[in-house]
Amino acid sequence: MTVNWGLSVHTGHPELVAAIADEIAASGPIPFVRFMELALYHPQFGYYMRAPEPTSERIGWRGDFYTSSDVHPLLGQALAKQAEQMDRLLGRPTPFTVVEMGPGKGLLARHFLSACRRDFQDLFERLHYVLIDRSPVMREVQHKNLAPWLDRPNLLTWVDNLETIAPHSVTGLFLSNELIDSFPVNRIQVTANGVEELWVDSHNGQFVECLRPPSSHALADHARRMHTDWPVGYRTEINLHALNWIKQVVQLLDRGFVLTIDYGHTAQDLYRSDRKGGTFLCYSRHSTNEEPFLRVGEQDMTAHVDFTSLARTGEQHGLHTTGFTNQLSFLMGLGVEHMIEQLEQDSPAFKAAIHLLRPNGMGTTFKVLVQHKNVVNPELDGLKYKPFFGTSLSAQSAA
Ligand SMILES: C[S@@+](CC[C@H](N)C(=O)[O-])C[C@H]1O[C@@H](n2cnc3c(N)ncnc32)[C@H](O)[C@@H]1O
Repeated sequence: MTVNWGLSVHTGHPELVAAIADEIAASGPIPFVRFMELALYHPQFGYYMRAPEPTSERIGWRGDFYTSSDVHPLLGQALAKQAEQMDRLLGRPTPFTVVEMGPGKGLLARHFLSACRRDFQDLFERLHYVLIDRSPVMREVQHKNLAPWLDRPNLLTWVDNLETIAPHSVTGLFLSNELIDSFPVNRIQVTANGVEELWVDSHNGQFVECLRPPSSHALADHARRMHTDWPVGYRTEINLHALNWIKQVVQLLDRGFVLTIDYGHTAQDLYRSDRKGGTFLCYSRHSTNEEPFLRVGEQDMTAHVDFTSLARTGEQHGLHTTGFTNQLSFLMGLGVEHMIEQLEQDSPAFKAAIHLLRPNGMGTTFKVLVQHKNVVNPELDGLKYKPFFGTSLSAQSAA
């Protein structure tokens, strides 16, 4: 098939659009997860892999979306406090390693390190902070934002991926904020034939979706476990990369914690039958849309995280679930009110800090899952307040 992509101005970044079209032309329609992988992470032209326009950025006020670390250093400060407690529970190892995956601009690391040096000297002296980001553009920004720390021996290391870390070599903390929501997802829809998958084809110079049987047994099996009473037309996403990621993390951790912050839900909530359209969204210039076939490579794509499957998969592979909470409760447990008291009432910094806590916004949209390995019944301040009770993380299904 020959496709004329010359007119695809609104379709997206021309070389990326052509690369995806070529792949489809060569081998036929591709599962949506492959399309999303190429749109975000094509080695040359993907959204995260290409430098943005000089006056713009990917993440931040001049970008397409912002994250907690763009708002205020509070989250990094609270995480430093939480890490200090984890360090104590682990018997103050040397080094205490933090592996932050998907650090984006490196602001969370910057806030964490500043708070640690100021308040937790002993931990700071033993700290080894490892950053892993698959985007070379983001790695460059991280180096800039962490410049003051670069000269300090043994503090910061960048590695390319998890495969470069030796099994059972990490004592400390695996940390991520908004990593999992940026993994490519499979999208599925219930039809008269059962659960089918969204695939991507090209037609007259545009990408179009088509429904086909699931592309893997893993996807079909996972969908079957989640599917309770979904009506025909129901559409949702499944993040198999997240499950592979947690399995890999378990192997690398010797003793310590995995702390995952992201927007998401328990499986019961995420896959409830009235959430008919799923949670897949694109972000462009701080507004959202559901048009992945427009601005391809020029906008972010995400889906909410299924924390139940993350917790259950971790348990099946050697992690214990320490607890699950939301950002508001996590920060409250770590004494955020004392941190906020030190800010001038109604100052911009005060308002920004409050923004992270909003009960109808970032405070509850963002969830925090903590898992542990080879630590006996740890109690963490960040998990003191429990907005979810009992077996909230056990889905009907996620066995
Ligand atoms: C939504 S941004 C979050 C950035 C940052 N954590 C924050 O809160 O501002 C997602 C980041 O994860 C990175 N990323 C996505 N998949 C990754 C992977 N498999 N390994 C390492 N980094 C990844 C992206 O390059 C990007 O920097």
